[in-house]
Amino acid sequence: MESNSSANPTLDAIFRRRSIRKYTDRPVETEKLELLLKAAMAAPSAMNCRPCEFVVVTDPEKLAQFRKRLIFGDRNAPSAIVVCGNPSLSANPAARLFWVQDCSAAAENILIAAVGLGLGTVWVGIHPVGEFVRIVREIAGLPRHVTPLGLVYVGYPAEEKPARTQYDGHKVYWQKYEKRKKRARVKNVKYLP
Ligand SMILES: Cc1cc2nc3c(=O)[nH]c(=O)nc-3n(C[C@H](O)[C@H](O)[C@H](O)COP(=O)(O)O)c2cc1C
Repeated sequence: MESNSSANPTLDAIFRRRSIRKYTDRPVETEKLELLLKAAMAAPSAMNCRPCEFVVVTDPEKLAQFRKRLIFGDRNAPSAIVVCGNPSLSANPAARLFWVQDCSAAAENILIAAVGLGLGTVWVGIHPVGEFVRIVREIAGLPRHVTPLGLVYVGYPAEEKPARTQYDGHKVYWQKYEKRKKRARVKNVKYLP
């Protein structure tokens, strides 16, 4: 593995986390799913407002619906966690602006915690694609004020992927951003203000 993380279990888990898209039939124990939810809720959130809610799906019919209707979500995992943002849970109006970041931190915690439990995961992006949001709202029974940020499939891996860091020194600046000759950049991308 191209890293020097040995003897550091946290870094090992981060580098070993990979998107797993093939799963065995073995169901995930409820205790393990609950540990993943605990990891999710331990994530940081703006002003600690914790606007995330979670729908755990193990019903084979609902999973089949996700597989069939989400074009990038055709994975055979025995369970999924829909990570949802409910900004109305944030007492502070300023913190409500950050629900995407809050839920992303929670989702990433699920992915990393799963590594330590011998589980594989893949994040399927839902928000901000309106059609995906509509599909997941319908299958998971979410009201209008609750938005699915993403769906995390969870299961025992049926494929192996190497650990890696993807470290790229060209994307790192110290003290101040500077113009460089060699930059990874996609042409004709419109930048947000
Ligand atoms: C916001 C987001 C959306 C993603 N959506 C999908 C998806 O719809 N389907 C999928 O198979 N993988 C999805 N992924 C996983 C990425 O494709 C994957 O993280 C990337 O290719 C890097 O591979 P790795 O996860 O193994 O490091 C998504 C990841 C993120 C963070």
